[in-house]
Amino acid sequence: MLRVGIIGCGRISDLHMLGYRGRDDARVVALCDVDPENTAAKSKQWQLPDAAIFEDYRQMCESGLVDLVEIIVPHHLHYEIAAFAIGRDLHVSLQKPMSLDLADADRLISAASDTSRVVRLYENFLFYPPVLKALELIEQGVIGKPLSLRLKSNAGYSPNAWDIPFPALLWRHTPEECGGGPLVFDDGHHKFSLAWIVLGQPSEVHAWIGSTFVLSFELDSPSLVSMRYESGAVASLEVVYSQDLLIQGTEHYAQDDRMEVTGTKGVIWVNRGHGQIGDVPTVVSYTDGRIETYECPTGWEQSFIGATRSLLDTIASGREPILTLAEGRDVLAAALAAQQSAKDGSVVLVPDPVGRSPQSVRAELVQSAPAGADAAGGGA
Ligand SMILES: NC(=O)c1ccc[n+]([C@@H]2O[C@H](COP(=O)([O-])OP(=O)(O)OC[C@H]3O[C@@H](n4cnc5c(N)ncnc54)[C@H](O)[C@@H]3O)[C@@H](O)[C@H]2O)c1
Repeated sequence: MLRVGIIGCGRISDLHMLGYRGRDDARVVALCDVDPENTAAKSKQWQLPDAAIFEDYRQMCESGLVDLVEIIVPHHLHYEIAAFAIGRDLHVSLQKPMSLDLADADRLISAASDTSRVVRLYENFLFYPPVLKALELIEQGVIGKPLSLRLKSNAGYSPNAWDIPFPALLWRHTPEECGGGPLVFDDGHHKFSLAWIVLGQPSEVHAWIGSTFVLSFELDSPSLVSMRYESGAVASLEVVYSQDLLIQGTEHYAQDDRMEVTGTKGVIWVNRGHGQIGDVPTVVSYTDGRIETYECPTGWEQSFIGATRSLLDTIASGREPILTLAEGRDVLAAALAAQQSAKDGSVVLVPDPVGRSPQSVRAELVQSAPAGADAAGGGA
């Protein structure tokens, strides 16, 4: 039985908890947060009255009470806490981005290479069932070789969106703590991961990052990132916040993402992300004049459940995690290149990849985490 400690009991930790429910190979036994009100609230909400409570992550890591830590804190603390936990010989699951710069990323990779424990970058978007379905179709060769990718991220409002604690807004809008803006860098990491799993590491990145004020907070919208690959493939990420755009189908953030992959003989559309805009089939493919539609589970929490299960299965099997820190570095390199490009107004060259090839990770992901989707019917 793996004993799990959660470091950072803030907004998103609720979705991390879901993956541990009903598992008999892992149990959350310890909670850590600098704010004791958060640990008290979560131990009650998650019905963990016996969980050990810590305010200092060092004490939790050295307590002998935990085998695995989930690090779910603001970005500027990722490197420091992960390095400490790796040094205490613990399994580590680290939320994205792994660090704020590539030098710290390299230090973490080096530290992780000295441990036999699993150290993985938590990237739940790869485990979102509609995305898994699209990756499965790519693996099956339904669209041929991927040539281009369009990612679109819409943020708006939703009466059902969850409350975001003020401190969670504050660190996201403090560039030294977040590392970049909340949409293109923080949430954008997920989109760079999606681009990575489809096309790999871009060789060049260009970005325009806009500015929209919502009360006194500046949002990095509207923005457009372009990526070009050694293979000649291209990708774009468009991010836009619309204050009066109703996002349906979400209990979490008022946001929705869509993705379109064009290959040598077909196209795949993923029409759902966090939320829902309109009433279109979840996943659609087009090949040889024929449309197929697929309905998948769409709750965004499914991506967290899948990511946590994958971690536990990885620890049990001794496989490489999805993602490794090296792959996290590759995603971070593209995300940082976009920030740099927007500042300099120029195309930025991305460092060579250090992780596995996305094709091999994609194949493993599809095999180990089925999408749970069926073709819902199609027509010529
Ligand atoms: N995968 C996703 O889709 C997703 C979504 C949201 C957030 N995140 C990531 O999760 C992390 C947390 O985001 P959030 O929205 O929950 O933020 P949050 O501010 O709600 O939660 C962070 C928590 O960390 C605590 N904390 C701060 N310093 C600490 C320390 N030294 N030791 C222990 N606890 C400390 C804070 O008190 C707070 O409770 C970030 O890395 C963010 O990028 C990921």
